[in-house]
Amino acid sequence: MSVHEIDHPLIQHKLGIMRRADLSTKSFRELAQEIAALLTYEASKDFPLEDTQIEGWCGQVTVKKIAGKKVTVVPILRAGIGMLDGVLSLIPGAKVSAVGIARNEETLEAGTYLQKLVGDLDQRLALIIDPMLATGGSMEATIAMLKQAGCREIKALVLVAAPEGIKRVLDAHPDVKIYTASIDERLNQDGYIMPGLGDAGDRIFGTK
Ligand code: PRP
Ligand code: URA
Repeated sequence: MSVHEIDHPLIQHKLGIMRRADLSTKSFRELAQEIAALLTYEASKDFPLEDTQIEGWCGQVTVKKIAGKKVTVVPILRAGIGMLDGVLSLIPGAKVSAVGIARNEETLEAGTYLQKLVGDLDQRLALIIDPMLATGGSMEATIAMLKQAGCREIKALVLVAAPEGIKRVLDAHPDVKIYTASIDERLNQDGYIMPGLGDAGDRIFGTK
């Protein structure tokens, strides 16, 4: 299956707190990073391992190491920044490709305003991060951009996803794997996820 809804108790507990309307910016921000780290743990479960010899306290010992996996984390600005430290806490060596996409609040169409991708994308797993997958326009545009630049393996980590957005992304890009803390009910007429989190960018940055 290409969409993984992670029902781990820690994730579900933390997401439940994030849904509170009166939550402080500080707490919302911290929880977004914590859930991002937990989603990263799930999304890295299939990373290949290889044996390596090291000098241990009692002599030579064979240990495991991740087999040359090169990763780029791709935050969709601005709200994706709110998950970046969480991902990097588990994959500290990852390079970061920043993508600036904002959806027009009337048309809901995604417009790109920044593209700062790292090199060697054909040899890297891209982990796209964005708290919200709503209509799917921003994610679809980001995936198309990465593929155009040569990327061949893409996973998307989102806190909350709408069924409409998942369908749009997987119809266009069935090879992409989506990891989410929750598949919510639907989009409302303004393109907001219900029950969702509200405007994630505003809640992370304290704007509005
Ligand atoms: C939000 C969110 C996603 C996008 C999702 O960003 O962080 O990037 O909307 O909507 P979609 O699936 O319908 O494209 P927004 O455009 O509000 O920008 P921001 O991150 O600057 O707040
Ligand atoms: N962007 C958000 O921040 N929230 C939504 O519910 C939909 C798009």
